[in-house]
Amino acid sequence: MHKVTLIPGDGIGPEITQVVIEVFDKLKAPISWEMVDAGAKAIKKYGTPLPEVVLESIKRNKVALKGPITTPVGEGFRSVNVTLREKLNLYANLRPVKSLPGINNKFEKIDLVIIRENTECLYKGIEYSIDESTSCAVRVITRAASEKIAKYAFDYARRHDRKKVTAVHKANIQKLTDGLFLQSIRNISNNYPEVEYEEKIVDNMSMQLVLNPEKYDVIVCPNLYGDILSDLAAGLIGGLGLAPGANIGDEIAVFEAVHGSAPDIAGKGIANPIALLRSSVMLLEYLEEYQLAKKLEFAIEKAVEDKNILTPDLKGKGTTESLKNKIISMLDL
Ligand code: NAI
Ligand code: MG
Repeated sequence: MHKVTLIPGDGIGPEITQVVIEVFDKLKAPISWEMVDAGAKAIKKYGTPLPEVVLESIKRNKVALKGPITTPVGEGFRSVNVTLREKLNLYANLRPVKSLPGINNKFEKIDLVIIRENTECLYKGIEYSIDESTSCAVRVITRAASEKIAKYAFDYARRHDRKKVTAVHKANIQKLTDGLFLQSIRNISNNYPEVEYEEKIVDNMSMQLVLNPEKYDVIVCPNLYGDILSDLAAGLIGGLGLAPGANIGDEIAVFEAVHGSAPDIAGKGIANPIALLRSSVMLLEYLEEYQLAKKLEFAIEKAVEDKNILTPDLKGKGTTESLKNKIISMLDL
């Protein structure tokens, strides 16, 4: 039995984590959940969005599944998501972007992985105002973190038999920070002669992804570019409702969807649970429950063939419930 920390989160978080609980139940996955609150519920209960009990639980269990957490814009507390990644040194944010059959007709064969550096860049949150009309942010890039993410990306490519790694940067403008990032990735790339290596400037990369996403394999980037490109790439396969992710450290992993708390649809029963379910497939793989992972992945692929039960983000007329039921009914095929 694996003990896994479960954070329901804000907005649509509780609705979609509930789906995972039910699906895992039906799968008879050998997992016992330890439920802890972060975000809005934690503020009510403990006066802070990220109470110590959450960190303790994750450190103890080493594995967590997390719903999205709302972050106030322009004021208020620092992002719980960013703080978690930093405090637990979850240095790699792994975001596979894979087409689901029949969902997006334009691109049927997207199968890329964005590997986003997860601890530094602008997410250090170092900002200051000089006066009322001028504010600055400090962008931190270190050789240690850049080499670590490079090594993770190339090892990932080797382990998963992927052919190419593309490093994304803006070293033409950010000569010192992105320059250091790029130099670090190049250094590490030399140790992996069997993996093709290329570099793309982030603006061009955005266009290339929109035009030719099927050409890309593993993409490694600093924190901010990875954040932006992963939402862009999610759009290419049919939206954020389909894009999973994992925050990986040397000993701890926290699985979560790419999307946020989606306040515009929260409580309406129409959130797409697939992004979090695909994150749960990754969780099962991490726990070496490969058969269960395959079963769930297959059930998701089969379920989306029935267009009637799809949620509105996939242009369907269904609900979270109808999609969940269909996936459950496909588990035994
Ligand atoms: P969002 O990702 O929550 O939503 C963007 C759009 O995608 C919305 O129209 C939403 O309805 C749709 N969408 C997202 N997930 C969906 C799903 N599962 N099914 C159907 N539609 C879905 O981004 P937004 O609105 O910019 O941010 C909302 C809040 O989430 C903010 O407070 C933000 O800071 C937070 N956030 C948290 C993250 C996390 O916990 N890791 C990640 C990203 C944002
Ligand atoms: Mg994001």
